Amino acid sequence: MTESSQRNRGEFPPGRWLFCRKAATVVVTLALLGPLAACQHEGGAGPSLMLAGPPAVGPVKAKRHMIVADHPLAAGAGREILRSGGTAVDAAIAAQMVLTLVEPQSSGIGGGGFLMHFAANTGAVDAYDGRETAPKSAHPYMFLDGAGKPLAAADAGVGGLPVGVPGLVRMLELAHKDHGRLPWRELFGPAIKLARVGFPISKRLARQIAGADGLRESPVAGSYFFDSDGTPKPAGTVLRNPDLAETLAAIAEGGADAFHDGAIAEAIARAVGSAPRNPATMTADDLKAYRAKKRPPLCLPYRTWLVCGFGPPSSGGVATLQILGILQGFDLAALGPESSRAVHLIGEAGGLAFADRDVYIADPDFVPVPADGLLDPQYLALRASQITGAKAGGRRQPGMPGAGATLHPPHATAEAGTSTAHLSVVDADGNAVALTASINRPFGSRLMVRGFLLNDELTDFSFTPNADGAPVANRAGPGKRPRSSMAPTLVFDGRGRVVMAIGSPGGPRIIGYVTKALIAALDWRLDIHRAVAYPNFVNRNGALEIEKDTSLARMAPALKAMGHEVLPISGVSGLNGILVAKDGLEGATDPRREGAALGD
Ligand code: DON
Repeated sequence: MTESSQRNRGEFPPGRWLFCRKAATVVVTLALLGPLAACQHEGGAGPSLMLAGPPAVGPVKAKRHMIVADHPLAAGAGREILRSGGTAVDAAIAAQMVLTLVEPQSSGIGGGGFLMHFAANTGAVDAYDGRETAPKSAHPYMFLDGAGKPLAAADAGVGGLPVGVPGLVRMLELAHKDHGRLPWRELFGPAIKLARVGFPISKRLARQIAGADGLRESPVAGSYFFDSDGTPKPAGTVLRNPDLAETLAAIAEGGADAFHDGAIAEAIARAVGSAPRNPATMTADDLKAYRAKKRPPLCLPYRTWLVCGFGPPSSGGVATLQILGILQGFDLAALGPESSRAVHLIGEAGGLAFADRDVYIADPDFVPVPADGLLDPQYLALRASQITGAKAGGRRQPGMPGAGATLHPPHATAEAGTSTAHLSVVDADGNAVALTASINRPFGSRLMVRGFLLNDELTDFSFTPNADGAPVANRAGPGKRPRSSMAPTLVFDGRGRVVMAIGSPGGPRIIGYVTKALIAALDWRLDIHRAVAYPNFVNRNGALEIEKDTSLARMAPALKAMGHEVLPISGVSGLNGILVAKDGLEGATDPRREGAALGD
C-alpha cells in the first residue's frame, strides 16, 4: 500500500477499486480507499462471466488449480508442481523449462520474457521484466549495412548480431524468490528428466524445422534438428537433449548465477563471437551484468473490471489498455460478437493506440516514456472522440499525452514469425501468473549453445537510428532493452479477485489478439475457449487485418463499405488463458497451436 493510498483511507465508499500504477507493486483490493492521482475507480462488483450458450468444444474445468501452456508436456510438468503444493510461480518455472526443450523454436532460457503475478494473500500485482538487453558492443547503427541502409530483417536475424543477453532465468529466479514455495532445484526435475529420455517432435515443431531458413547450416542446431543427410527430422522422432539436461542441472544447483557467470555464460559469448554469420561481440561480463527488474504494472479500469498489463519496455500493456480505455464509451456488449460495427470500433481504437506506440514506447531506462499520460482517461476520451461510428478514420497521427511528452520519429515493428509462448497459471491459493516468453522468430538466431537456442530479439530495435533529424526512441544502444509487444495480462473483478490471466505470441499483433480475447470474454461473455478461438483481427494503424477463412472474413464487404482496407492474415495467435468463473477455473489453449489446459 502506498503512502498516499493510506492517506485516502475511508474517503470513498466500499466496493471500489484501489490501485495505483505509479507504484512498483500494484495492490488490488476491495477498495475502502480512494483513487490516487492517476488512478480511476468504478463502483460495484463486476458481473460474473457467463457462458454465451453451449459451446461446441468448451473450456477445461478445474476446482483447485490450473495451468495452460503451449505444449501438453509443459502443462503436465506445471500441474505436477501444483499437485506437489507448488505456487503459480513454481509451476510456471517448471513448465517454462520444459518449453525450452519441447518447443525450442518459441521460447526458452536463451531468450527473455515478461511475467505478471498476483498474490492472493496481499492483493499485490508484480511485473517482472526478463527482457534481453543489448551487449556493451551494441550501438544505434548496428543494423545498417556499409552503405548506411537498414539490413533486411531475415539477414540481420541470423547469427551473433541479433542476440540479446538472455534474461529469462534471472527473471524467473527473482519471481521465485518473491513467490516460490518449492525449492528452486525441484522445479527443474521434469525438464531434466525429459531432456534425458527424449520427447517426440510435434507436428508443429516438425513443420517449423522444415521451414526455417539458416537452421540446417547452423553448426549445432543443424545436427540436432536434421538427420545426417540434411532431412528435417519428422514429427514423432524422439529427440534427446543431454546438453540441455546438463545445463538445466547446473542452473538447478547453482541458480541463475550458474547461467550468467561461468562456463555457460562463456559458451554463449563464444557462440555469438564465432557465429558463421554476423559474428558479434558479447562478453561474459555482458552476461554477468544482466539484471532482471520489477516494473510498475499498468492497470486501468475497464467497465467493472481492472485490467493490469506489462508496461515499457513492452508496448503490449500500454497499447492493450489504451484500446480498452478508448472503447470505454462504446457499448460493445450491446453490439455483440457478430457485429461489424464492433470490429470497426475495436480496429479504430487499435489504429489510435499503434500511432502512439510507434513514437512513444521504448526502454524507459533510456527514454522517457509518457505511460501515465497515454493511459490518462481524459487523454483516452480525447482519442476516442476521433472515432466515427461507421466510418474508418484512416491512418492516425500520434496524440500529445500531456506536456513534455517527446514526439519521436515513428518505428513500426516488422513482421514477426510464429514463435513465442504464453502460459497462464492459477494455483490453489488463488495466486495467478501470466508469463509470455520468447526467443523472437522461430529458432531465434539459430545459434544453439549447451542445448538451447539463443534469441534474435535485438531485431526488435529500430534498424533506422534517426529519422526526420531526430533519434528514434527504440534505436539500439548498449544495455538497452528492445521494445516488445508481449502482453501478459491479469484481470480483476470489483472485489479485487483475479478473474482472468491471458497472453499470446504474435509479434506486434499480440496487442490485437489479447485485446480481442479480453473483449470477447468481458464484453461479450464468451467462455474462455470461445474468447480464445474467436477470429483474430487487428488494426496496426494501417489495414484492418482479419484472420482468413473465418466467420469474420465474411464481414469484409461491410467493413470495406465503412472505408477500411481489409487485409486477410493467417493470424496464428497462441492465446492461453484461464478464467476464474463462479464455480471454478476454466482454461483454454489456442486451437491454432498445440497447447494444453490442465487442472484438478
Ligand atoms: O517482443 C516481441 O514483441 C517479439 N519479439 C515477440 C515475437 C513473437 O511474438 C513472434 N511471433 N509470434
